[in-house]
Amino acid sequence: MSHPAAALAKRLAADGKPGAEQIVTRLAGTIRAGGLRVGSRLPPIRELARALGVNRNTVARAYKLLAAQGYLVARFGGGSHAALPAQGAAGGDGSAPPAAEAERREEPGPPRMGDAEWERLFARHPRSSFSAIGTAERTPTQVEAPINLFQLRPHTGLFPQGRFQACLDDVLRRSGRRLLNYGTPAGYLPLREQIAVRLRQQDLRVRASQILITSGSQQGIDLVARALLDPGDGVVVESPMYSIALKIFQVNGARLLPYAIDRAGVSFQALDALPAQPSPKLFYAVPNFQNPTTHTYSELERRALLAQLYRLGGLLIEDASDAELHPPAERGRSLAALAAQDGADRVLHLNTFSKTLVPALRVGYLVGAPPVMHRLTELKEMTDLSHSLILQAAIAEFLERGHYEEHVAAVRGFYRRRMEAVLAMLAESLPIEAPYTEPAGGLCVWVDLPPHVDTTLLYQRLQERGVLISPGALYQPLPGGRNGIRLSVALESEARLRRGIRILGQVLTRLLRRPYPAPQEEYQSVH
Ligand SMILES: Cc1ncc(COP(=O)(O)O)c(C=O)c1O
Repeated sequence: MSHPAAALAKRLAADGKPGAEQIVTRLAGTIRAGGLRVGSRLPPIRELARALGVNRNTVARAYKLLAAQGYLVARFGGGSHAALPAQGAAGGDGSAPPAAEAERREEPGPPRMGDAEWERLFARHPRSSFSAIGTAERTPTQVEAPINLFQLRPHTGLFPQGRFQACLDDVLRRSGRRLLNYGTPAGYLPLREQIAVRLRQQDLRVRASQILITSGSQQGIDLVARALLDPGDGVVVESPMYSIALKIFQVNGARLLPYAIDRAGVSFQALDALPAQPSPKLFYAVPNFQNPTTHTYSELERRALLAQLYRLGGLLIEDASDAELHPPAERGRSLAALAAQDGADRVLHLNTFSKTLVPALRVGYLVGAPPVMHRLTELKEMTDLSHSLILQAAIAEFLERGHYEEHVAAVRGFYRRRMEAVLAMLAESLPIEAPYTEPAGGLCVWVDLPPHVDTTLLYQRLQERGVLISPGALYQPLPGGRNGIRLSVALESEARLRRGIRILGQVLTRLLRRPYPAPQEEYQSVH
């Protein structure tokens, strides 16, 4: 239960309508004096503004200031709660602490960390304001877990548990204690050899020594960014782009140089317009079933991207994370087409077993030229010494027995059928103003929305109705790019997908045909 807005408004509006600063001073004083219990929920911005007769922006600004001073903590989906700043942190109006507070300070025990102190400790790299989006936990009023169209996760029911277990048992029996220690940082050699064989079938002629096993492909992106980037270095990226790669580049202080992937595909114009000076250090692309748009680059688009790499300089990560889930006819000739054309000199190929097997294995790999692989291997060792030998050996065995090819074919069939079903649901439920991509497999669909639709607001509307979608705002390297949402199709049962898509259709239809008030007015985040 939140504190009643009317009661609080009485305390705050002693002499007429207060401004943001007065709200801060009075609310901080009330909390310090014990008039509002620490942890109690503050009224929503809209309600308090109404009770005070002031603009929502005034209350939103006051809440932001209070949060910065440690008097308020915002919990996503759970509102704003009263808090006390850490001892020694700047106190709202600088007034002397009241008796209750002074007493508290005399109590023995170490000083507690408050929000202000946490804020001081964290490195000052840009943070995403969306970190709390997508928590699939149900809110106290929800009886059922939300329908999760948010997370790009495979259907774990497809995991070939019996066969994998047999491989695990056999390698452990055969290898005895050899698998129980640390492995080499580059990864378990028999697994790297198996991967090299598969890559050669993809026209990428590499040796096992050029392969680094990583903790998922995610670690591959992180290692490359850390190995190459100094603050201010240019990184050429897709727009929209894979959200967690975006965070990695931001954290490393990259200067983002986006080229658009619009409904017609890669924007050649944007590629041509990339500035030659200063030369970028890195390109990052997902040429097969791009995340989030599901676009697959044509031969021409691949060639154009490589031409820019050679014109501007730097290395390119070719991320093939979801590529194997799609039918071969729908993707490029080779999953490693860019690395193959380049001879793995300037192109680093990145892949994973997360989507074809399961993410819990956390096994991915990076392939590239010896000088960069050497540097990356050193960094990998600093990060986590080496990956689990036991799991690497089990995957190597799974590949060697030919189970993997068979399994991937079966998995592709599942996703093709699943996608057909989802496309039929979308056709039935989505308004015509929300066109969507139509992949022949894989884990997600992208829905295009007009530029004025605030996808974060849409996320909230749907969350209230028990459906989680992935707002396009998460994928924008710079504001103002292609607008839309990504829908993940693998996690939920078909019945729940149908229900979720029907609700999405209803909310979108209302939003597009009878727009909500301007987003600025409607949505004030205190995050
Ligand atoms: C494009 C892309 N790259 C990398 C990853 C990271 O996956 P993992 O670390 O499980 O291999 C993902 C996960 O969804 C992804 O979509």
